[in-house]
Amino acid sequence: MRISHLSAECSPFAKTGGLGDVVGALPKALARRGHDVDIWIPFHLEAAQWYRRRLQWPIEATPPFDVSILGRPYRVGILKGHLPHNDVPVYFVAHDPLFHRPGGLYAPNDSGMDDGLWRFTIFVRAALEAMRRLGRSPQVLHTHDWHPALATMLGAWSGWRNRWFDDVSSVLTIHNIQYQGAYPGHLFTTLGLPDDVRTGGLLDFRGSLNFLKGGIEAADVITTVSPTFAAEIQTPAGGAGLDAVLRGRNHRLTGILNGIDRQVWNPAADPHISARYSVDEPSGKSECRHELLRTAGFEPGDPGMVLGAIGRLVDQKGFDLLLEAAPELIRRGLRIVMLGSGEPALEGAMRLLESHHHGQFRAFLGYDEALSHRIEAGVDALVMPSRFEPCGLTQMYSLAYGTVPIVRKTGGLADSVIAYDGYNENIATGFHFDDPSPHALAAEILSAQHIFFQRGTWYRLMRNGMSVDNSWEHAAGLYEGVYQRAREVRGLAW
Ligand code: ADP
Ligand code: GLC
Repeated sequence: MRISHLSAECSPFAKTGGLGDVVGALPKALARRGHDVDIWIPFHLEAAQWYRRRLQWPIEATPPFDVSILGRPYRVGILKGHLPHNDVPVYFVAHDPLFHRPGGLYAPNDSGMDDGLWRFTIFVRAALEAMRRLGRSPQVLHTHDWHPALATMLGAWSGWRNRWFDDVSSVLTIHNIQYQGAYPGHLFTTLGLPDDVRTGGLLDFRGSLNFLKGGIEAADVITTVSPTFAAEIQTPAGGAGLDAVLRGRNHRLTGILNGIDRQVWNPAADPHISARYSVDEPSGKSECRHELLRTAGFEPGDPGMVLGAIGRLVDQKGFDLLLEAAPELIRRGLRIVMLGSGEPALEGAMRLLESHHHGQFRAFLGYDEALSHRIEAGVDALVMPSRFEPCGLTQMYSLAYGTVPIVRKTGGLADSVIAYDGYNENIATGFHFDDPSPHALAAEILSAQHIFFQRGTWYRLMRNGMSVDNSWEHAAGLYEGVYQRAREVRGLAW
């Protein structure tokens, strides 16, 4: 099947979180299963830098062309590269004023304005036009999150582009329901889109434009990244306002747990860590631990339990709970290494804890891919106290690295970690807690600490986690079923 993925992120070119990881990995697994797959992302500054660091540059896929919005031409270039160690093509939509921007993938414009709706409208229009020019018409257009969701809406309105869409079905994957691409309604007229997109009600939501909602209405099949999250987003508590819309599309919605890219996250072959190890040869993990504790400024031979936490510092991740619990945990002999960037208040709290607890709490602020691997390999347990978590990849990386996850029982965390209950050490891989409070988190960490000192049980949990098959193969098979369904519901052959 011919499948085109459209996304704002794709690892390793441009990534702020798990969205980038998934878009950099799922297409490879699909290609291994014989599908003709490509990926479309904006040519962000980060992607240009990725190439420059390697003294390489993607090739020009088509001569530049104009995307016209209300008569104003936007000249775009289409560049073509491929995923590393692999021939899955990656097409980059280049338009420097919109994408070649310092300050991150979602940085505002020079005047500090969030111009995402124009950036991603131009991205989608350019990508679809380029597919047409290149004669690459996908059978399935797989859009990820709100940024490219407009593509499914244009598809649903099949008068667009000479009925090119008549043979294209669409799938929308929701990675994060919190980011919806909501903008004031009056801006619709500035997008130069066919009126039907609006009058059909797709983009409208409670008087605003809402790209995610439009995508949900228009896509032939909607997926999200874990079965539990698929159920949660249909409830008022978990739907971030879109639960009723999702319930209305319930027959088209399914949850598929993400996999992990074993080419990138494998302790037996990871170039970022100081020693390689595996479930059969686990001894290298203690060298990684030693090295990490030294880097963190801790006593390298510390026999106590060392906790790690990695992620975007936003409310979703619940790191404030960990920071609040930290002084008590440190008093009980735990050591904590955190890596993240995001909300200034959380960064400030991390700095403060570090200054009060030198040698016991270490805050790495910023984004550091190599360090994230060293932490996954070097700590004993990884904490994810998320308030909500569609899937979560860091805990799956932990499992692969023999690091025991302690997670809040929500979304994909509940689906990917089997909690130890005192009797199931033959299958358990980690620990769960329910209540999103510092107290409940600390209580669970302390009971995990108790098990940590019962070395036999702890090793069983580590080994169980390392033996879980979280590779993308299984999920890719489920996505195949989704693509077939997306063709069927439109009455198209596959
Ligand atoms: P989310 O997509 O919500 O951010 P996930 O757990 O799915 O959460 O994925 C997070 C990804 O981003 C992981 O690959 C993680 O290692 C990475 N990551 C997050 N913050 C950082 C950071 N500060 N430095 C390096 N990697 C990070
Ligand atoms: C999102 C979610 C995260 C998920 C990732 C990849 O950013 O927050 O839970 O793992 O997307 O699907």
